[in-house]
Amino acid sequence: MRVLVTGGAGFIGSNLVDALVARGDEVVVLDDLSTGKRENLEAAGDRARLIVGSVADYDTVLAAAEGCELVYHEAAVASVQRTVEAPVETNQVNLGGTLNVLEAARAVKARRVVFAGSAATYGDNPDLPLREDAKPRPQSPYAIEKLASEQYVKVWADLYGLETVTLRYFNVFGPRQDPGSPYSGVISIFVDRLLRGQVPTIFGDGEQTRDFVFVSDVVRANLLAGTVDGVSGRVFNIAGGGPTSLNQLYGHLRSVIGGAERPNYAEARAGDIRHSLANIDAAHEGLGYRPGVPVAEGLARLVEAVRAAR
Ligand SMILES: NC(=O)c1ccc[n+]([C@@H]2O[C@H](COP(=O)([O-])OP(=O)(O)OC[C@H]3O[C@@H](n4cnc5c(N)ncnc54)[C@H](O)[C@@H]3O)[C@@H](O)[C@H]2O)c1
Repeated sequence: MRVLVTGGAGFIGSNLVDALVARGDEVVVLDDLSTGKRENLEAAGDRARLIVGSVADYDTVLAAAEGCELVYHEAAVASVQRTVEAPVETNQVNLGGTLNVLEAARAVKARRVVFAGSAATYGDNPDLPLREDAKPRPQSPYAIEKLASEQYVKVWADLYGLETVTLRYFNVFGPRQDPGSPYSGVISIFVDRLLRGQVPTIFGDGEQTRDFVFVSDVVRANLLAGTVDGVSGRVFNIAGGGPTSLNQLYGHLRSVIGGAERPNYAEARAGDIRHSLANIDAAHEGLGYRPGVPVAEGLARLVEAVRAAR
């Protein structure tokens, strides 16, 4: 089958593209290469065709979607900080892009759209583990754009009969995550620093926790969300299903890479959420999703991949 992956040159998107190609799909990638990279698609070879363009342009999305049965919408400005700095511009990509993808999918009569939502929509909610029906508390333009996108995604299933599924990713980590930005995933930054022989900095006391999920589990959730019947219009948390503190994370990485006994500690960043943890029962019941890679194993695999790439 032909599948469109927007944002397919990015971290999560390109890992998904590899899995789709491996199962025999023909993949069209629409990506403006703003944070994505051509080399992320090298492993996929010529079964993945890259169209360089923006999801903010409807005609471009329509052309990319032509003949596609399934659409994965991963493209977004994924940096919360960037959406704080440029909310008008990022809204055009993160919300306008979602609407374009839904409309293009409808126009080409695609069967299903799977949308990359975010745990950011929950905000700082102390009622953990978070269930999908928790009241959303968006605290950034990014979270608003993801939440409003989810609403479009849901209503397009109700109104137009396009099958749609939202996956709310928690903290995803794994190979190809770019450590370049100070706001990118904490794990990619720690790995990068430790491999350079530097000491990473934890903001706060390090006892804050996140629900980290290895990218291969996110990919598997996407494959399920593209195929399982009877889930249209639904939203699923996709996470590892357990808390890991940043201090524990540092300990795991130190045991794989070595390095200073203690990280540096700096003042907590304003607005940082203290704890985040998902309830993943719905994804298990609806999609048959269960995380398969424990955090420590994912970290070891990531370090191996980063070492091999250097
Ligand atoms: N990484 C995480 O922990 C996480 C958590 C929750 C949600 N998400 C969501 O998952 C998706 C993938 O994120 P990622 O971590 O792989 O980030 P990423 O930045 O590596 O991937 C995003 C991709 O979208 C592309 N893109 C950006 N603007 C575009 C535009 N206007 N038109 C076309 N392509 C565009 C980028 O070039 C990049 O390849 C995003 O929607 C993100 O918001 C990620």
